[in-house]
Amino acid sequence: MKKLIFTLLMSLFVAGQAVAASGGIHLDKVEVDLSDQASLQRGAKTFVNYCLSCHEAAYMRYNRMAKDIGLTDKQVMDSLMFASDKVGDTMTVAMRAEDAKRWFGVTPPDLSVIARAKGTDWLYTYLRTFYLDSAKAMGTNNSVFKDVGMPHVLWQQQGYLTNDHSEHGLTKTSEGELSTHEYNVMIKDLVNFLAYIGEPSKIQRLALAKWVLLYLVLFFLVAYPMKKAFWRDIH
Ligand code: HEC
Repeated sequence: MKKLIFTLLMSLFVAGQAVAASGGIHLDKVEVDLSDQASLQRGAKTFVNYCLSCHEAAYMRYNRMAKDIGLTDKQVMDSLMFASDKVGDTMTVAMRAEDAKRWFGVTPPDLSVIARAKGTDWLYTYLRTFYLDSAKAMGTNNSVFKDVGMPHVLWQQQGYLTNDHSEHGLTKTSEGELSTHEYNVMIKDLVNFLAYIGEPSKIQRLALAKWVLLYLVLFFLVAYPMKKAFWRDIH
């Protein structure tokens, strides 16, 4: 019985989290596949060309990524890196944080663990739902991130969408270079890559957790005998 109540409470909690994360907005589903290296390579390319100018992925090293997604260091150097980076460098940003703050009103967050923070469905939806909004400084708004400070950086590929506030959602009012299907694939690859870069960071966090736990155990070993010694005479 206890177990049943626990399970029920847990599922309520998880469901609540899912709704809270999406703000009650419908999210499109995406299947990520971290073993699909071709997809990860395409995603890496999009990330480097269109995201890294503003966002960092400071936990990700180029040479580690090369190995994980099936490229040689040379391929990464030739096609994915800025000339000034070395292959052992982390993927840090070309723009200075204070400039970014001035231009966008907010510093673009590091994207190393964004797939874990927001979920892949959220990212997939977010990157496909920028729409024209003349009231915004950027000229665009976003369906799942209201009044976002990020411009629609992939407008050349997607074209522009308009929000006519109908139940059908957004409609395409100007064509981009890609068809809707091709654009969806591009974003799927990008989200796949973002999910991938969240993994190595997880390994780093787990490594840290080990030390924290060890610290707690050692602390207990010291504190418990002390507590006993202090209270001995009182009992
Ligand atoms: C021109 C600069 C710029 C570029 C290029 C850019 N972004 Fe952003 N991005 C921002 C800013 C600024 C924010 C913060 C928006 C806010 O908080 O209002 C942001 C926010 C985000 C968020 C939400 C983060 C959160 O914590 O909720 C995601 C996800 C994101 N960007 C992904 C991307 C991806 C993927 C690309 C590449 C396709 C990209 N961005 C390219 C400026 C940029």
